[in-house]
Amino acid sequence: MTSPVRLLESLRAKGAPLGPWADAVASVRRELFLPEVVEVGDELISRTTSPQRWLEAAYSDVSITTQVNDGRPAGPDEYRLPTSSSSQPSVMLEALSLLDVQPTDRVLELGAGTGLNAAWLAHRLGSDRVLSVEVDPVLAGQAAKNNAAAGLSPRIVQGDGGQGWPEGAPYQRVIATYAVDEIPYAWVEQAPQGRIVTPWGGSFFPYSFAVLDVHEGRAEGKFTGYPAFMRSRIRRPKRGYLDDFLHHRQDAEHTTTSLSPLTIAQDADALFYIGVALPDAWHLPVTADDGSGEMMLWILADDQRSWASADYTPGTDQYAVAQYGPRRLWDEAEAGHGVWEALGRPTRARAGISVTERGQSLWIDVPESDLSALLPSRQAT
Ligand SMILES: C[S@@+](CC[C@H](N)C(=O)[O-])C[C@H]1O[C@@H](n2cnc3c(N)ncnc32)[C@H](O)[C@@H]1O
Repeated sequence: MTSPVRLLESLRAKGAPLGPWADAVASVRRELFLPEVVEVGDELISRTTSPQRWLEAAYSDVSITTQVNDGRPAGPDEYRLPTSSSSQPSVMLEALSLLDVQPTDRVLELGAGTGLNAAWLAHRLGSDRVLSVEVDPVLAGQAAKNNAAAGLSPRIVQGDGGQGWPEGAPYQRVIATYAVDEIPYAWVEQAPQGRIVTPWGGSFFPYSFAVLDVHEGRAEGKFTGYPAFMRSRIRRPKRGYLDDFLHHRQDAEHTTTSLSPLTIAQDADALFYIGVALPDAWHLPVTADDGSGEMMLWILADDQRSWASADYTPGTDQYAVAQYGPRRLWDEAEAGHGVWEALGRPTRARAGISVTERGQSLWIDVPESDLSALLPSRQAT
C-alpha cells in the first residue's frame, strides 16, 4: 500500500463515497503533505529510519497525527494532545460528499492542517476556487508549501476560522475540519446561498457532522456520521490524563443509580442528547481488562473542578456512583437522559440545528420545537 492508486483501490473496496473525488485521490500524493515524523495511533514513524512503514501509513486509510501540543516539544511523560493531522481519507470523502460540491463552486475550508483537503478541492475545482484558513501560522505556511510541491496553489491564510474569510466571500460551500460547539454566523453570512458541513458538538459528544443549507440569512440542517475531529483551538477545553481531572477522591459523595452506565456509553443517540444538556464535560468509558465485563464511566468537567464516576458490573441493577466538586455531573447526565426518555428516545436523525444572527438553536423534527427549552437548566456554580 504505497501509492495513491493503491489508496484509491482500498477506499473503493471499503465503499468510501469517492464520487467525483476519485481522480484527486489518485493524483494528489499524500506523502507530499506529511512531515518527516508522523504518528499513527501510538506509533511514531520516522521517514528516515522506517521509510517503508512511513509510506505505508501515507497511503493507508488512517488518520495521521502531524502535530501534538500545538508544536511545543513534549516531555517524555507529558500528555500528547493531537493538534493537527492529515484526516482519515474515508472521513474526508464522507465530509466532501455531504458538502455536495459542484464544479463551479468556490469553497471556504476552515482548518488547512497539512493542506491535503484543500489540495483535493483545488485539483477538482481549480486552485483559484479554494481558500483555506488555518489558525497556526507555521502550519498555514507549510500547507501552502505542501500544495506547491503538488503543483497546486489554493489560497491558504492564517486566521481564526471562526471569522471565516470575508474578503473571499461569497462562497458556495463551507467545510470545517475541526469540531465546533457553536456554528459561527460568519460562515452563514459568507455563504448566503450555500451549504455548510462541520464536525459539531460540545465536550460530551463532539462526534456528529452538521450539514446545513443557508437561505435568507438563516442556516438549517441535521446531523449525521460519527467523525472524531480535534476541537477548535480558539475554544479548546483542556485535556490530559484521567488523573489530571481527578482530585479529592476521598471526599466524593457516594450514591447508587439504576441507570446502567453501560447503556449510556453504548447508545450514540442517548449520548448525543445528553451532550446537548452537558456540553462542558467529557466522558471516558474505561473497561476492565480482566475479562470481568466491568466498566467505569467517568464524566469530567472541562474546568477540572467536578468529576463523577459510575461503575458498571454485569448482572446487577444498581450501580455505584461517586461525584465530587461544585457540580453533580452524574446527576446532570442522568437528567439529560431522563429528558431523552421523556421525548420517546428520539434518534439523533430527528434533531436539527438552526443558525441565525442571534446564535444557534437545536430542535426536534421541526425548527419550532426548540430542544434547548426541553433540557434541564443548570444551577449556577
Ligand atoms: C484535522 S486538522 C485538519 C486536516 C486538514 N484539513 C488536512 O487536510 O490535512 C484540523 C486543523 O484545524 C486547525 N484549527 C483548529 N482550530 C482552528 C481555528 N479556530 N481556525 C482555523 N484553524 C483551526 C488545527 O490547527 C489543525 O491544523
